[in-house]
Amino acid sequence: MLAACLFDLDGVLVDTAKHHYTAWKQLAEDKIGVGFTHEDNEALKGLSRAESLSYILSKTSRTFSESEKLAMMEEKNINYLSLVSQLTPNDLLPGALSLLKSMKEQGIKSALGSASKNAPLIIEKLGIVEFLDAVVDGNVVTLSKPNPAVFIKGAEILNVSPAHTVVFEDAVSGVAAAKAGGFYCVGIGEQEALPQADYVVSDLSFVTIEDLNKKFFN
Ligand code: G6P
Ligand code: MG
Repeated sequence: MLAACLFDLDGVLVDTAKHHYTAWKQLAEDKIGVGFTHEDNEALKGLSRAESLSYILSKTSRTFSESEKLAMMEEKNINYLSLVSQLTPNDLLPGALSLLKSMKEQGIKSALGSASKNAPLIIEKLGIVEFLDAVVDGNVVTLSKPNPAVFIKGAEILNVSPAHTVVFEDAVSGVAAAKAGGFYCVGIGEQEALPQADYVVSDLSFVTIEDLNKKFFN
């Protein structure tokens, strides 16, 4: 039987990718002097803030000191925070609230497994704190996906085994992390983009607890 679900945040519960895009693009173009496209933003999904900056800096031959890099990350995050400060429960992606609610009703545990250091603020804005039994984020675990640490830590806190737990992920690196940790993984997005997922849906409105039990725990 399904014991728990672990949710990535960005792209699974809420569409924050557009805000990361705006904030990184501004930094890339205005401060670093390189372009930043939607494809670049796609490649950053699931990566930590520092890894994202390294990706952008790999587009230039200019070099920057550690303190300059820290200042850039801070500047990007200040811009990002001003964008996500507007989030409300209406920004939850389709199906997210109803799945979280039915999990709570049926006694299935849930946790967040995200690389984001802003996760606590974002889940508060979205009004879903009460539906999450644990929050494992970039402040708790520093090994980035595809390392499975963030999900393994979540399963440990919930006291469930990966073999009875389903991870929801929209990033290639996140799906790889889930599979490396021995979890079932439902991809959120396009089938072709997430070949490692056990199956893929376009959003959580296509997922019920009954389906998960039928597909994985029959
Ligand atoms: C998630 C997103 C990434 C983001 C990372 C760190 O994994 O998919 O695009 O870079 O979190 O987010 P943060 O809020 O800590 O900058
Ligand atoms: Mg994501």
